[in-house]
Amino acid sequence: MAPVIQALPLACLMLLLLWRAPGVGAQVDPGFQLRQPQDKVSVAAGGTLTLTCTISGGIPAGPVKWLKGLGSGNVTVYDLMGSFPRVTRAVSGSDTDFTIHIRDVQPGDSGTYYCVKFIKSLRGGEEFRRGGGTEVSVQAKPSAPVVSGPDRRAEPGQSLPFTCTSGGFFPKDISVKWLKNKALITSQPPQIVPGQMKSSFDMSSTVTVTLQEGDVRSQLICKVQHPTLEDPLDGTYPLSRALRVSPRVQVVMDPSSPVKVKQTVNFTCHVKRFYPGYVTVTWLENGTELKMQNVSRAAETPQGLFELRSLVEVQATEEKNGSVFTCRVVHDAQDPITSTATLWIVPLAKEEPEDLAQQGVNLLASPILWLGLLLEKGLLGGLLIFLFKRGRA
Ligand SMILES: *[C@@H]1O[C@H](CO)[C@@H](O)[C@H](O)[C@H]1NC(C)=O
Ligand SMILES: *[C@@H]1O[C@H](CO)[C@@H](O)[C@H](O)[C@H]1NC(C)=O
Ligand SMILES: *[C@@H]1O[C@H](CO)[C@@H](O)[C@H](O)[C@H]1NC(C)=O
Repeated sequence: MAPVIQALPLACLMLLLLWRAPGVGAQVDPGFQLRQPQDKVSVAAGGTLTLTCTISGGIPAGPVKWLKGLGSGNVTVYDLMGSFPRVTRAVSGSDTDFTIHIRDVQPGDSGTYYCVKFIKSLRGGEEFRRGGGTEVSVQAKPSAPVVSGPDRRAEPGQSLPFTCTSGGFFPKDISVKWLKNKALITSQPPQIVPGQMKSSFDMSSTVTVTLQEGDVRSQLICKVQHPTLEDPLDGTYPLSRALRVSPRVQVVMDPSSPVKVKQTVNFTCHVKRFYPGYVTVTWLENGTELKMQNVSRAAETPQGLFELRSLVEVQATEEKNGSVFTCRVVHDAQDPITSTATLWIVPLAKEEPEDLAQQGVNLLASPILWLGLLLEKGLLGGLLIFLFKRGRA
């Protein structure tokens, strides 16, 4: 500018000053240049975005602003007047360098930014020149994946859907792998939808898993990989949360039926291999609940299943002959599982000890027995003589 002014006569200088005066200048300064060199910028969420803009040449009066978007939806990101807490200028106070830094960038900051030079006009401010725009994409990491399972437990053999969700990521490309313990499970590609903030994506991936009895200790793992991540993110789901293994119930009598009157009989209810480890055990004698019982603590098997025993002691009486003892087990709000045993009492008559003595006496009184004894002695004598003679020969 300065050399031009020097070279011109005073009248020209006056004209120039007028030309630059506010309100006059719809005329274009031929030397003016606005440079917004960045076409595309990618920045990590939480990081700082730098938007470069410089102007040079014959600069008309009027502000330079940064706008996000064009048309009616545009937002002023920075101008000299307002307060923009996240924005600082790279060269504060400069008339030519309007580069800005925006800190703590979030996916919502994605969009196209324009550096715009305004000139003062009678109407207040008029757009004079605008940069080509910088397309900003904010790279966002996916949130920690969460695996959800069915609302209700299911038995081994049943197939259940499990869903892994993660969100807030940009760009769109994401991959999901499923593992059961260490084995890969085949799954459909994830469903990717725009997130709540338009500039990020959410995904969900579903697999179907057939439960097995041994799955109490199994883990379902959803592995999410994204360009913003160094290591994949894992979401885990313990399959025990979805599994129900119903107990096997068996009543054992000790001693076994039939028993003698006055004998103590132990009825043991074996409740085996169940999960989760809570059951309620009740005993019924001919359909009436028994109050007296002795329930052991549930013990855990190496596979993570549970077992317990419940014992009732019963004094055998003649009135209890034919009594049915039922062990009723309720597990995980399911229908009761039962097992029964019947108490039989040996009739008194057959077991009398006097009866046996009587038989013994009868035997001694029998002449056949005496005859038998004599015969036996005779045979033994004969055998001895025979052996003695052979020995001498
Ligand atoms: C920005 O929006 C305002 C109205 O909201 C409009 O007058 C102006 O022309 C827009 N600027 C640009 C560069 O689109
Ligand atoms: C019955 O159970 C009790 C208590 O556990 C035990 O002391 C007793 O020996 C058992 N009786 C039989 C016949 O098993
Ligand atoms: C118990 O009942 C069985 C079958 O009805 C019968 O054989 C047995 O004699 C009964 N025992 C007693 C002690 O009554």
